[in-house]
Amino acid sequence: MPANSTQLFPSFRAGANGVKPLERAILERRATPHFDGTPVPDEVIEAVLLAGAHAPSGYNFQPWRFLVLRAEDRRAALRRAAYDEAKITEAPVVIVGFAPSDGWKKTADEVFAECARRGAIPSQNLDQQKQQAVAFVETMSVTAWLNRHVMIAFTHMMLAAEVMGWDTAPMEGFKPAAVRSELALPYDVEVIALLAIGRAKGPDRAFPGRLPLKTIAFDNTVDRPWAVA
Ligand SMILES: Cc1cc2nc3c(=O)[nH]c(=O)nc-3n(C[C@H](O)[C@H](O)[C@H](O)COP(=O)(O)O)c2cc1C
Repeated sequence: MPANSTQLFPSFRAGANGVKPLERAILERRATPHFDGTPVPDEVIEAVLLAGAHAPSGYNFQPWRFLVLRAEDRRAALRRAAYDEAKITEAPVVIVGFAPSDGWKKTADEVFAECARRGAIPSQNLDQQKQQAVAFVETMSVTAWLNRHVMIAFTHMMLAAEVMGWDTAPMEGFKPAAVRSELALPYDVEVIALLAIGRAKGPDRAFPGRLPLKTIAFDNTVDRPWAVA
């Protein structure tokens, strides 16, 4: 990925209709109930993947992996492992967010070398820095840690798709073991979430609302709910 990559979105690069501002993308993104099958251009898929790749991660380990399913038979296989969810075959693209349990360790040398080359971390004692980072991650539940990261990347990806005018549907309704079996993924892979991308069929589902900030946010102490300005 270019170091100074400032243009992620094809419509922006092409100077076409422009992109939706982030505020609108956040407010207008809905979990799409049905897709109309309109194909998603490869450059849009790639921009979505790059947006995921740009997500932050602990020590920049980037443990997320994305399996892009475009072939109809592959999506049909996934649907069998996902409670027969129609969105999976309606949408032209479904991305399986997964993480091999030790995949992040296998790419750690590459990650640390690149961080050092770019001046993001000191270039001395790289191996020691890496070992300390690995040891710290291993003090946590690695499953929880992998989930956290894939979902941060998925959030980037959903908003990137929305910014470019595409609709998405995140899904947790699947049986991980069945997904591994249907898609021939190794047994030690955490299957974390699915993301369908396409164009919504029919109007968006109504905005289901959100809890108010006074319920979910606190000011200095959890005894003091956030007071809306
Ligand atoms: C991690 C995650 C998993 C979800 N899993 C499913 C799912 O399996 N099936 C489904 O129809 N919707 C699923 N949703 C969509 C949620 O129901 C939806 O995001 C929520 O109702 C809020 O609606 P909104 O996204 O349109 O604002 C999921 C959302 C998230 C973030």
